[in-house]
Amino acid sequence: MEKVLSYNTEKYNFKKYFENFFECDLEYIHEMYGSKDFEWDGHEVPQDKDIGNVVELIFEDMRNNIEFQSMWKSFIKDIVQDQYFKEPMLHQRLPSFKIIPAGASCKYSDICIQNGIEYSAHRDGDHPYHHPSWEVNFWMPLTKIEKSNAMIVEGDDGMFYPKVINHGEVQVFFGNNKLHGPPVKNNLDITRFTIDFRCLYASQYDTNKLTDVKIKSRGKWWPQKEYFTKDVYYVELRNNI
Ligand SMILES: [Fe+2]
Repeated sequence: MEKVLSYNTEKYNFKKYFENFFECDLEYIHEMYGSKDFEWDGHEVPQDKDIGNVVELIFEDMRNNIEFQSMWKSFIKDIVQDQYFKEPMLHQRLPSFKIIPAGASCKYSDICIQNGIEYSAHRDGDHPYHHPSWEVNFWMPLTKIEKSNAMIVEGDDGMFYPKVINHGEVQVFFGNNKLHGPPVKNNLDITRFTIDFRCLYASQYDTNKLTDVKIKSRGKWWPQKEYFTKDVYYVELRNNI
């Protein structure tokens, strides 16, 4: 069931973590790093300031930063497991993030037009993502969301609904088989910064359902059964750990 979870932004201060990395307010990343249009292939976050492959640098920092690891693990336990799954679960090893600089157009996937607005709308189960159908999606904005820059999600009635939630809230939805995505163009004068990740009930994880189909992640191709594993993509979380 779709749901909105809440968390304490002081205790789980993802915004501060990213602001320390970028050395500026997330809303004003574009002032330091540029507002060029881009098509996502895994590394092209704002490019004017050359600091290398920003996405890889952030993932490397997340992996090695003890404070981040501690915050991320307790967030998954206290918010995602306690408020949603309430039983053993698996979660994406590290969260993904999307940055759309103020005024820029960023294509993250195929495009779909709703009410005259272009969205990077896709289903995670479709080619070339091939995410397993057991996943539940979690999306949380770190900057202000209003209707014009909200993610849309297809409802059971086939209509699209903008998810206007605040920093401190997490939208739970089913992106595997429902079209969803951000608007291509950020018309606001602040950068849009959001986090997303996927989780599942541990009881639903079944390696027999993974195949050799090739999936694309951050610009690389993998056999599905070598990617959605407990070694690469998921981490298991049991109760009381
Ligand atoms: Fe997605």
